[in-house]
Amino acid sequence: MAKQVKVVVTGATGQVAYALLPRIAAGEMFGPDTEVDLRLSDIPQMIEKAKGVVMELEDGAYPLLSRISASAERSETHKDADWVLLVGSKPRGPGMERNDLIRENGPIFVAEGKAIAQYAGPGARVVVVGNPCNTNCLIARHAAGSTIPDEHWTALTRLDQNRSRSQIAAKAGARVREVKKLVIWGNHSSTLYPDFTNATVGGRKVTDAVDRAWLEGDFLKAIQQRGAAVIAARGASSAFSAAQAVVDHVKSLLAPTPADDWTSLAVVSDGSYDVPKGLISSFPVTVGADGTWRIVKGVQLDAFATSKIAATVAELRKEQVIVQDLLSPVAA
Ligand code: LMR
Repeated sequence: MAKQVKVVVTGATGQVAYALLPRIAAGEMFGPDTEVDLRLSDIPQMIEKAKGVVMELEDGAYPLLSRISASAERSETHKDADWVLLVGSKPRGPGMERNDLIRENGPIFVAEGKAIAQYAGPGARVVVVGNPCNTNCLIARHAAGSTIPDEHWTALTRLDQNRSRSQIAAKAGARVREVKKLVIWGNHSSTLYPDFTNATVGGRKVTDAVDRAWLEGDFLKAIQQRGAAVIAARGASSAFSAAQAVVDHVKSLLAPTPADDWTSLAVVSDGSYDVPKGLISSFPVTVGADGTWRIVKGVQLDAFATSKIAATVAELRKEQVIVQDLLSPVAA
């Protein structure tokens, strides 16, 4: 019999979910041998609209979709879940930073963390997409207590990695697949650091293939501001590129990382690289054949990289202070 995963997508009537759900249903996330029990979660006011999304999923006649449901009751959607994709949150508008939403969105993630602890399966994995995703992940993880192990909490910086690799490939006249080890450090925010100093393109160091002044200047700024640029141009935040990143993120957790590459995951810091233990920060990560991820150790960081990482980590600490009242103690 085929394997089956129970997958919750919150904010199921939002734009990112609209781009994401059909791809999960089509098997792009969990592969052609895994059936999906897809649970659409949203707030009560959106459930009528969610029914329309359910109809579309039914009308897609996806062979791998074993069950589809929609509910505002987390006791139903999150029950025994294997994956909880926390997409739902208020998106930012033009002129806002992602962490301007922190107090408004934070409480949603307290409720999510509690529901995950109460209802999800013991092996559940959680991916936080709603912004500010690092700190929302911190909040949910605290609210869940010690029910779900630290290794099962991640937040999305893959969108920034994808953006970075696209820009570097274009600049170097290469293909995206030729860019390796370009990963994101820190926060999914305008302080994020895409580390080009350890990256390669077509087997060459990126810093040899591309002008360093461009990397430190226009490139860095473009990646840090890319979400805002999409909002300014589209009048709405990124949707299908975010969905692509969520698919990539989950797939990167399900298969070993190629030997010549790393991937970006925002994870619970173990104190590596002076990132305070417990913060949710993006690191270079590899996933082993046993399915567990590890932060890559011993990455050489020059003065530029070190200062940028310190700045983004300082921002994460500030966000942590702002939501301190939402952080229930987690057993060490
Ligand atoms: C993005 O990076 O495009 C998303 O996080 C949405 C946003 O607010 O920038």
